[in-house]
Formats: sequence, C-alpha cells, structure tokens
Amino acid sequence: MDIDDLVNFINEDTDSKKKKSKKKKQQQQQQEQPQPQTEETNKEQQPPQPKQEDTIKPPNKTNTNNTTTNTQSEWIRDNPYKDLIKYDSSIEITSSRFQDNSHLRLINNWNEVNETTSSSWKQTNYPTYSLDEQYSNNNELPIGSIIEYGEKGIWRSTSLEKKQLENDYTKQLINMRKSAECHRQIRKYAQTLLKPGIKLIDFCVKLETMLKFITNAEGTNYGQAFPTGCSLNNVAAHYTPNTGDNTVLDYNDVCKIDFGTHINGYIIDSAFTVAFNPIYDNLLMASKEATNAGIKAAGIDMRLGDIGAVIQEVIESYEIELNGKVHKIKPVKNLCGHTMLPYRVHGGKSVPNVKSDDMTKMEEGEMYAIETFASTGKGFVKETKNWSHYMKNPFATRNTKIKSEQPKALFRFIDKHFTTLAFCPRWIEEKGFNNYAKALKYLCNADLVEPYPPLADVEGSYVAQFEHSLMLRPTCKEVFSVGDDY
Ligand code: CO
Ligand code: CO
Repeated sequence: MDIDDLVNFINEDTDSKKKKSKKKKQQQQQQEQPQPQTEETNKEQQPPQPKQEDTIKPPNKTNTNNTTTNTQSEWIRDNPYKDLIKYDSSIEITSSRFQDNSHLRLINNWNEVNETTSSSWKQTNYPTYSLDEQYSNNNELPIGSIIEYGEKGIWRSTSLEKKQLENDYTKQLINMRKSAECHRQIRKYAQTLLKPGIKLIDFCVKLETMLKFITNAEGTNYGQAFPTGCSLNNVAAHYTPNTGDNTVLDYNDVCKIDFGTHINGYIIDSAFTVAFNPIYDNLLMASKEATNAGIKAAGIDMRLGDIGAVIQEVIESYEIELNGKVHKIKPVKNLCGHTMLPYRVHGGKSVPNVKSDDMTKMEEGEMYAIETFASTGKGFVKETKNWSHYMKNPFATRNTKIKSEQPKALFRFIDKHFTTLAFCPRWIEEKGFNNYAKALKYLCNADLVEPYPPLADVEGSYVAQFEHSLMLRPTCKEVFSVGDDY
C-alpha cells in the first residue's frame, strides 16, 4: 500500500468509526467517588445476590446520591473487589457488547453480538460476571481466530493424522481460550478508562482489580501473568508506575498497554497502543500491520529469522511526519516476540523484529506471543532507571539457601505469590509485605530475582507496539487474543 492509499484507508476507517459512535453512545465515565464510611456495614447487611444468568436488572435510577453505594454493592455481585471498582450508577448495565472506542486511534469499536454469535457473549457491558460464572461449559468458550497454514503447511488442515493429534491439546486450548476471553473483557473495560488526564497508577490498579474479579484470581492458579505495562512514548516496554508515581496520560502520549492473564499458568500476552492524537496513526499502523504479518507468516517449520524479515519489511514501508519532519519508521531490533510455557512468559525462543540468520524453526504445539515494535527513533532500546518489573529466577528453588532473614522471607513470599510469573513492587505492598526494598535489592544482587528495567529508545522518539498470543496447532494456527478492537 502506498502512502496515499494508506491515508485514504485511515480516513475511511476514522469516518466509519465516527458514524458508529453516533449510532450508539454508551460510554461510561468512571467517577471518582469518595468512599463512604458506612461501606463496611452496608456490605454486611446485604445478603449475597443470587446468580441471575439471564436477567439483567437495570440499576435503580431513582436513587439519590446518598444511596448510590447500595446500588453499587447490589450490582457488582459476589465481587470481593467492589470497594475498588466503582462505576457511574447512572450507567445502564445491559447485556450489550457494543462499545465505542472512537477516542482511541486505530482501536476499533466492540460490536454488538448478533443472534448467531450471542452464545459466546455472556458478560454485561460493565463487567459484573467472572469468567467462571459465564462459562461453566467449556464447549461454549469463544474460539480464537483460526488461520490456515500457508502453502507449505496447508495439507495439515485436512490430514487425518494431524486432526487426531488435536485431541492432545485439549487442556492447553481450554485454558488459553479462557485466558483470552478474560483478556478481551478486561481490556474492553480498560479502554473506557483510557482518556487524557487519567493517572496511570489509577488506571493500572483499576485494570488489575477487574482482572482479579474476572479471572477469579486465587493463589497462583488464575490471575495476572505480569505487571500492567503502560510504557510511554520512547519507553517501549517494562514500565508500570511504582507507588508515588503520579504520571498522567497526556493527549500527545503514545502508550503501550501490555498486560497478561493466565489460567492454570497458560498465559495470554497481548498488547495494544493508545494514542489520542491522529499524528501518530502511521506509527501505530506500522506495528499493527507488522504484527498481523508476523502472525500470517508464523507456521510449523518456519524459521524465526524469516519471520523477522517479514516484520521488518512491513514496518520499514511506513514513514511519519512529526513537527514538519519526515521520519522513517524502524523496527526495534533488540525487542522480540517469544514462545511461552506454563508459568513462563518467555519460553526460550525469540521472534526478532528484523531479518536475522537465526535458522531455529517454529514447532508444532508451541505457543507464541508475536509482538512488534515500530519506532521513530534509532530502533534500538536501552535499559533505564525506575525499575518496576521483576521475576524470580526459575532456577532458584524454595530450598535455595539465603543467610539474611529479610531477603529469605521476601524470597519465600515471592515464590508463594508469584512463582515464576513476573511481578511489580506494588503487588508486594498490596499483599502485605512491607519494607522490602533492601531485601529485593539483595535478591537481585544474588541473581535469585531478576529485574526487567524499562527499555527505551532515544529521548524524544515514539514507539508503538501490538501483540497477540497464538498456538501452532497441528491443523491450523489459533490466535487466541484477537478481539473486535485489534
Ligand atoms: Co506483552
Ligand atoms: Co510478550
């Protein structure tokens, strides 16, 4: 596509978004309401709401301000996090799936479900059901986007032998589909919060709270797979605000929302880029299209270096004009997609963003996170300060000898709550471990915990990212995390 076509394409896309947004305006405005002192007593007096799968009660609109809390408690049923997730009680809660995302560049609206697909939408438009409440029957779980293998692998779609092999992956598929539906529902909610002026830490806490509610987060069986990334502008990855960080999302920011859900350790790693200003459209498009091209090129026996070449070609076909200067868009050459294993977000193989002579082949049954980064800077990221992402070294076990008391206690705590999943300091605090800073430093120095510092391109540059999780099934590729939005 040349640039004129591209501009037309973007304009058309925007026009259709505008039309859709006029059709239905259901945006929820999150309101910061002061916490009434009486919340505790209200909660205790109210019996748990019975499960009502089919009936959607509209909230009581006649309520005056002083009874709003009651309405909320009623409406977020069985939700241990209702103190943290608040919604505007004037919003009508319906079974509709439609959501206007026209405030976000290149992120599509969520469409209404039609009669043929309604069986796969069981959530309300402000989430009030956990995934388990929606899908007691695994056969009803939404299936990811199915893509046949290219020329070399097309025979697999009809091979009896390969069809039989599919049965071996039932457990993986169910867990990944559950994890993906959680990811979609959580990010759909998160997209309503992403407006200029929101404090990133508030955004992360809300997303994480909703994630706990929808996944029924419990111990290390289900929940969040790694911290909520919201890396800004030249920072490409691994930034989440630590306590006290008051960074606010700005109209001119380019923000990568990269979070992970997991069900029994099966991880969905998926990311999108938030921009409000249309000047970044080509940058976002470069990454979005490159990720789609990478997914299309992925396949059993494909070489990792060749996937990188496809990604590079797409990204380099774009340029962007910022402040009257035209920049060539570059892939970030030291960031990669990756395989995933249960409880391990990086499974060992890397999918480069540029052509390489890596002859390693993709294999049947592997899970991949295909992610691409497009940059207006050098296309090379360096580690920066303000660390927020950490992960236990998978080779450090519970029996690892640690002499000092506090680091020993922290190590056990990390092992218990996060195992080999990545975590951030906010979560250590949230789970009640105080004065951990020195101990964490100790564990990092001893290589028992590894820090993953923010990774940034040069100052003043902008980086966009899109990412999806897929499995190389015996007969086809299943891209679990695809939604209407991206
Ligand atoms: Co990611
Ligand atoms: Co990833």
